[in-house]
Amino acid sequence: MISGGNIRNIFAQIFGREAALVARAPGRINLIGEHTDYNGGFVLPAAIEFEIKMAARPAEGSIVRAWSENYNEAFEFDAATALTPPAEPRWYSYLMAVVDQFQQRGFTTPGFEVVIHGDIPPGAGLSSSAAFEVCAAVLLNELCQAGLSLKNLALLAQAAEHSPFVGVRCGIMDQFASALGVENSALQIDCYTLETEAFPFNSAMASIVIINSNKSRELRNSEFNTRRKECEEGLAMLDALCGGNYETLRHVPAEVFARHQHCLPPKIAQRVRHNLTENQRVKDFVEALRRSRWQVAGDLLYQSHASLRDDYEVSCPELDTIVDLAANTGLAYGCRMTGGGFGGCAVALVPPENVAEFSARLAPEYKARTGISPDIYATKAAAGARLER
Ligand code: GLA
Repeated sequence: MISGGNIRNIFAQIFGREAALVARAPGRINLIGEHTDYNGGFVLPAAIEFEIKMAARPAEGSIVRAWSENYNEAFEFDAATALTPPAEPRWYSYLMAVVDQFQQRGFTTPGFEVVIHGDIPPGAGLSSSAAFEVCAAVLLNELCQAGLSLKNLALLAQAAEHSPFVGVRCGIMDQFASALGVENSALQIDCYTLETEAFPFNSAMASIVIINSNKSRELRNSEFNTRRKECEEGLAMLDALCGGNYETLRHVPAEVFARHQHCLPPKIAQRVRHNLTENQRVKDFVEALRRSRWQVAGDLLYQSHASLRDDYEVSCPELDTIVDLAANTGLAYGCRMTGGGFGGCAVALVPPENVAEFSARLAPEYKARTGISPDIYATKAAAGARLER
């Protein structure tokens, strides 16, 4: 958690005057529903206590002066001109991407000064980039007097991620979780209708434990966009095969897939199967949460991981090791990789009284097997993005 007082002090030191407003946006952990969001499916993330803060003040003219406390670096650009992406993606690419989205929607961005400081581990699959975009969107909403809802700010942030400034064709989960997260709750998102529902998460019964494999991943360079394309191909093939007109993979009935799967190229069939089974697991998980059936919920986490490893092929040896070790401790309800994959974090549900022993056993065993020290944190489901005056 970044202290509001601290970021105001940094602003005063850098710009020699008081900040007028502070925006914050959290990272997220996804409990279940992975790689389903861009296929119109179901996801169940929660906002977490790691976050990004931006302290800002409007300035005369149209120059944006930004200071990144994490990178110890300044950058400025003119918000009145058409923006072009930097040659290499940098921290300020995300800020420019969001300003560009406001411009594209016809809003005039005034000049402003801003200090940016975050504690979300980058490249860990905890949505540091979505939090950056959502935080910038909340800030610009105020600076431009745009009056957009948090939902629309999340959609704008997603458009920023898709734009040439970033270039990842992500789904909506990360930006929605960061913008609309509810304290002590998991947020179910129907990624087709964009409806959300918060489910109270009883932290007295289960702690959310994040295990960072410290194997960093770069979505842009990973196969994320390829997976998305494979799913689109799978949908088009199923439509052609059965004369259906399914809008997304979420609309494909299980029996239709069962009948036609042997006609699909094996990899495409795997990607589709993961989506259909994962959507069902989200529904089952929510039902288990409602009934406080933690062991059922935990088993669904293990099943989700196996599907991501074998059918969707987005895990990696480090994440598989964490999940195996978590199961071997016998101290967790369940564990799975979380986020885009290819490195980053796993999430475990652990009875609160077991958390200390779980971490103490997992960390050295993971280090012994992989040579990497993990970071392990128990977190609470936090509230979504806000503006503080
Ligand atoms: C990344 C994307 C999300 C989602 C996850 C996988 O975090 O940004 O939209 O697709 O991967 O579930």
